[in-house]
Order: sequence, then structure tokens, then C-alpha cells
Amino acid sequence: MLMKAAILRAPDEAAEYGDFAEPVVSVGHDLVTLVAAGIHPIVRSLAAGRHYGATSGWPIIPGVDAVARTADGRLVFTGYIDAPYGTLAERMAVPSTMQLPLPAGASPVAIAGGLNPGLASWMPLTARAAELGSLGIVLILGATGMAGLLAVQNARVLGVAAVIGVGRDPDGLARAAAAGARTVVFTGDREADAVTLASALQGAAPSLVLDFVWGAPAETAFRALERHGLDEDSADIAYVQIGAVAGPEAAVPASLLRSRRIRLVGSGAGSASIADLMRQMPIFMRLIAEGQIDVPTRTFPLSRVADAWEASAQSGSRVVIVPD
Ligand SMILES: NC(=O)c1ccc[n+]([C@@H]2O[C@H](COP(=O)([O-])OP(=O)(O)OC[C@H]3O[C@@H](n4cnc5c(N)ncnc54)[C@H](OP(=O)(O)O)[C@@H]3O)[C@@H](O)[C@H]2O)c1
Repeated sequence: MLMKAAILRAPDEAAEYGDFAEPVVSVGHDLVTLVAAGIHPIVRSLAAGRHYGATSGWPIIPGVDAVARTADGRLVFTGYIDAPYGTLAERMAVPSTMQLPLPAGASPVAIAGGLNPGLASWMPLTARAAELGSLGIVLILGATGMAGLLAVQNARVLGVAAVIGVGRDPDGLARAAAAGARTVVFTGDREADAVTLASALQGAAPSLVLDFVWGAPAETAFRALERHGLDEDSADIAYVQIGAVAGPEAAVPASLLRSRRIRLVGSGAGSASIADLMRQMPIFMRLIAEGQIDVPTRTFPLSRVADAWEASAQSGSRVVIVPD
């Protein structure tokens, strides 16, 4: 038996619409049908074999998560299935333990588009707010992307004192500003960018840095965060590495680690607690359902996945696949 699906035949090829073998439903799994699935950066990097989570060969069906309909008609947020299967397909066999009911009135497209980029910041923001009692200044590197835009909104929902959003794209910076961030443009001139960021911080230290880009912009931020003098630092900075679109590595100055009270950690599949995620996902879905978090999306039917794949390379709104 065959079903329609998006298929990637080799790394770095685009996804195409075609026939793929129906998934086999093993013990502890249920067959569900596609309602909406986002093409997130992780979907593209796993499919290209560039993400640390990539495990299988090709051909594969891409897609990590989805809103799907169960055999008894319920809408659930689900996914996380073993390759070569993915969520950009008519049907998928999903773990019974990973099916979260959608809140009443929630748009499946907004949930499918928003959970991956939104939880990327919701998890570290809620953890930090619990640790400190309240959030001070939150600095976002990559505020121009979808994860950055939702991070600005999440920080506002959690009552942040101020959000500083850094990026390159003027349209993306305008979206971040409209969502409530003070924006900083990185031009690529590291010296000048570090000075601009330091002056935007006005001598204060962020309680949390959410870094979606890493690479050169992270090195610029390290320079802006460094301090001079031998007195004890009164700040307490948690720097969370989340994405690496600007480069897989960034050199961390020894003087930054010694001059500041700063903690550098990562957040992603592997380091994040599944139990915490399962607790926070229904809360975050409710925020989207209530319209407190706005997720810009563009939808494409599964049969137009080739066009959708191309469109998903641009940020600005999340591409979501829906059934034909
Ligand atoms: N660890 C997790 O849990 C988790 C969850 C979700 C996302 N992520 C990761 O976070 C990253 C961003 O995701 P997204 O959904 O926001 O993607 P997106 O909507 O496609 O946005 C891409 C972002 O990356 C920036 N960017 C791209 N190339 C850059 C470069 N060379 N230098 C500086 N900035 C660059 C863009 O900035 P400009 O437009 O200003 O150039 C934009 O802000 C991805 O790596 C994604 O995999 C991680």
C-alpha cells in the first residue's frame, strides 16, 4: 500500500511530491492523518543530514511535528517518528505517548507553525523566570527569524522588563519592533556592531540571552557583554545557545567568562527535558489559541510541497503543509 508524501531522495535536494510505503504501526503507536505540519529549519537541516539529530539514509519523508487527526476524530499535536518516516505525509504512525490534544478553538495551522519556533524560547524563558522570580532584560540574537519573533512575544507575555532584538534584515527588525523589542542592526562590522549593542544595553546586563544564530554574531555579542575592572560583577547572565544559522562555532573569550557572572548553556533536542516540554506544550498551545501569541504562516497543499520547500528557505512566516 502506498500513500502520498513529501519525499527527499538525497541530501540537499528539494522535497518532491510522490508515493511512499504506508507506515507500519508497531506496538505503542497509532496511525493518524495529516492536518497541518510546519517546514521548520530543523526539518530542512535533518533532511539535508546537517543536524546532529540526523540518523538515517535517503529517501526519507521530512517533517518532525504535526497537528493530526486520530482514528476517533480528535485533533492532536504529535510527531517525533522514526526515519525514514516524517510528518509531511498523508498518514503517520506516531507514539501513543506523544499526542497532545489541541485546546478548543486553536488553529491547527498556527499550532503546527508555532510550536517548534515558539517553544525554543518559551522553555528557557519560563525556566529563567522561575529561577529569578522575574525576567529583567532579555537579549535575542536572531530576532528577525520566526523563533526570534515568537521569543519577543513570549518574553512580553512573561512580563519582561525590556527585550533587545538583534538581526540583519530590516523587515524582520520592523516585525520584532512591532512585537515590542528595542532593535539593534548588525551590519557585519564586528567592532561597530559590538559598540552599537553595548550602547543599546546602556550599561545594564541581560538576565537571559537567547541566541538563535551563533557564529560571528555571537562573537560580537560576547565582545559587547565583556566588562573591565576587578570589582565583583553584580549581574547574573544566562546565555542560551539555541540555533546555529550563522555558524557552527563561536570563540568564547576567556576574559568574558572570568569578568562576568555568566553561564553558557544550550537548549535543544537532547539537552531539553521531555517531561518539562510535555508540561509546557499545552500551556503554550493555549497562548496561541487565545491569540496572545501570533504566528505568521503561509500554507501549501501537500501536492505543492516542492514550492513549499523553496518558500521555506525564507524567513518572515512559517510554511505549513496541509492536506489537498
Ligand atoms: N534548539 C531548539 O530547540 C530550536 C528550536 C527552534 C529553532 N531552532 C533554531 O533556531 C534557528 C532560527 O530558527 P527560526 O525558526 O527563527 O528560523 P528562520 O525563521 O528561518 O530565521 C532565520 C534567522 O537566522 C538569521 N540568519 C540566517 N543566516 C544568518 C547569518 N549568516 N548571520 C546572521 N543571522 C543569520 C536570520 O536573520 P536575518 O533575517 O536578519 O538575516 C533569521 O533571524 C535555526 O537554526 C533553528 O534550527 C532551535
